[in-house]
Amino acid sequence: MKNRTMRSNRGVWMVTAIAALVTVFVQCMQQPAAAGTDLRGAGYAGAEACRSCHANIYDSYLHTAHNRSTAPANEGTIKGSFERDSNEYYYQPHVKVAMERRDSGLYQVAYLNNQEQQAFRFDLVVGSGRKAQTFLYYQDDKVFQLPVSYFVPMQRWANSPNYPAKQVRFDRNIPIGCFECHSSYIRRTNVSAQDGFRVDHFDQGKIIYGIDCERCHGPAAQHVQFHQANPTEKTAQHIPVQASLTRQQKMDVCATCHSGLRESIKPTFRFTPGAQLSEFLPPDTTKPDPNAIDVHGNQVQLLQASACFENSITMDCSSCHNPHTTERTNMAVFSQRCMSCHQQSGNAFCPKEKELGAGIRANCIDCHMPAKESHVISLQSQGSMQPTPNLVRTHLIGIYPGEGNRFKKL
Ligand code: HEC
Ligand code: HEC
Ligand code: HEC
Ligand code: HEC
Ligand code: HEC
Ligand code: HEC
Ligand code: HEC
Repeated sequence: MKNRTMRSNRGVWMVTAIAALVTVFVQCMQQPAAAGTDLRGAGYAGAEACRSCHANIYDSYLHTAHNRSTAPANEGTIKGSFERDSNEYYYQPHVKVAMERRDSGLYQVAYLNNQEQQAFRFDLVVGSGRKAQTFLYYQDDKVFQLPVSYFVPMQRWANSPNYPAKQVRFDRNIPIGCFECHSSYIRRTNVSAQDGFRVDHFDQGKIIYGIDCERCHGPAAQHVQFHQANPTEKTAQHIPVQASLTRQQKMDVCATCHSGLRESIKPTFRFTPGAQLSEFLPPDTTKPDPNAIDVHGNQVQLLQASACFENSITMDCSSCHNPHTTERTNMAVFSQRCMSCHQQSGNAFCPKEKELGAGIRANCIDCHMPAKESHVISLQSQGSMQPTPNLVRTHLIGIYPGEGNRFKKL
């Protein structure tokens, strides 16, 4: 049985078919490109080239989920365990996949009654490991998803989303869209059709892992050359200047990946700040009730539907997020950003303070941006009867009665 519904479902984990042999993937792209050798062409310098002048930003960016969102597969990047007793996922009592170290790399091996059936190598990791990672393999010039993913909160191997629960499959073809949102570039060599679906072909290993500086700032080789030649110039040249971008243009940078799943018109790798997003992505025409927008991947639509966004002219993603650092779980920091607009002395401050006390100032988030279940992604992990929901912070900032009951104890 081939599952052909996913792409039309707009599911993250898209479809198609085929399984067979693994070919060798040379992990040659692990090193950042030297100046002039960026895979995207001469206009691009590569993140390493920014370090000499923007050392602080570069060093903290290395630890971000963006930078780690795709990686070559190895024991350093894969969060799951290859040790005996914790390296298996059972589909049925006699059907399992084992994660194994072999001479030519790390493999997912399918067994039926302990007889090996198929083995495919971990080539690529998708997901920084905040919540989950899924793994891909090359088969000649195509990319497929491995059956077993890793679910970080449970620290368990899990069935890859949208693969059947009780059957081992290696045949989900991965389209370019996955890389458009999770990497900085992959070289597509050809497009073919199979069973009415598009199949993307890639130049194996020609990938720039992670979401790098130039995905958000645009090609910067000229900027680098200019400032190297003019070290006394302190005003940024040959790079889109943040202050000159409209709010919509700033939002569009994040919207290339945070405004939901839809097939791009042309790969978003070439999008630059200030460009027309509509040349790359068709408009989101779904426009449902904001309460019905899935929390996964739709931060732009949800924020835009919030009273904070609608009633302020300045709010954008950077009102709360510094894109160069990792601040997650630090609710006090985010709450400070709420209070930059909702000042305690002002009449737009929270009426709950009277009842619950000043302690609410350390965490506006759990009451007004609660984590909600995604309905497009959940993961079935080993040993759980039900799929575990994927909780994502909603960006529909609002009043959620019932959230924050634990605050009564403040
Ligand atoms: C030879 C030094 C040099 C290198 C290398 C360099 N920059 Fe810059 N950059 C500057 C200077 C100088 C400024 C202006 C002062 C500032 O904002 O830090 C600047 C400013 C910027 C700005 C701010 C623009 C604004 O909104 O005002 C961005 C974005 C930027 N650089 C991106 C990059 C990226 C991406 C790279 C690597 C591909 C890079 N820079 C490499 C010197 C450099
Ligand atoms: C996820 C998108 C994203 C990535 C990746 C990213 N930036 Fe930025 N960068 C931004 C945004 C948005 C701003 C404006 C922030 C603001 O307005 O507060 C910014 C601001 C800047 C500035 C000027 C303001 C400042 O903080 O000095 C520089 C310089 C800069 N970025 C350099 C870099 C470099 C170098 C890298 C890679 C090491 C990088 N950025 C990666 C989105 C990004
Ligand atoms: C090229 C696609 C892309 C762009 C552009 C992009 N993001 Fe992301 N962003 C992602 C992906 C993919 C993840 C999930 C990364 C992971 O964990 O593997 C993510 C994660 C995040 C996270 C969670 C990080 C954490 O540590 O919890 C924040 C916050 C975020 N993005 C904000 C932004 C903002 C703000 C912008 C615009 C300035 C932006 N992103 C631009 C793709 C993108
Ligand atoms: C339109 C952009 C987009 C596409 C296409 C996309 N993703 Fe994502 N993905 C995101 C964003 C944004 C996040 C994190 C934020 C969220 O959950 O809202 C994310 C999160 C993830 C995570 C969890 C990362 C972590 O560590 O928490 C995994 C794994 C993942 N995606 C895999 C995939 C795979 C595999 C594909 C292709 C079949 C894919 N995604 C396609 C944008 C995208
Ligand atoms: C850029 C300024 C700004 C920031 C930052 C901001 N808000 Fe708002 N918020 C507003 C404005 C403006 C309104 C509209 C009501 C008003 O005029 O006071 C609003 C309205 C609200 C409302 C009422 C929602 C409703 O549906 O009635 C809540 C709750 C709220 N904000 C919470 C927050 C929280 C929590 C944060 C931080 C996560 C935050 N805001 C960050 C400007 C902001
Ligand atoms: C009013 C403040 C605020 C604004 C504006 C905002 N965010 Fe967030 N965002 C948060 C908070 C708070 C979290 C939760 C951090 C945590 O759980 O540690 C978060 C989390 C996220 C996450 C991770 C979600 C998850 O649970 O996995 C992503 C992705 C993200 N933001 C992207 C964006 C993008 C893109 C924009 C602009 C469209 C944006 N945010 C605007 C406050 C904000
Ligand atoms: C314990 C949960 C909780 C916490 C924590 C909390 N709020 Fe509220 N907030 C509420 C509820 C519930 C309401 C609805 C009004 C009511 O029921 O009194 C509200 C209302 C609001 C409003 C709308 C006010 C109006 O007049 O319409 C704003 C703005 C707001 N909160 C901001 C914040 C900010 C900023 C923080 C952090 C400093 C915060 N809240 C912390 C629960 C909370």
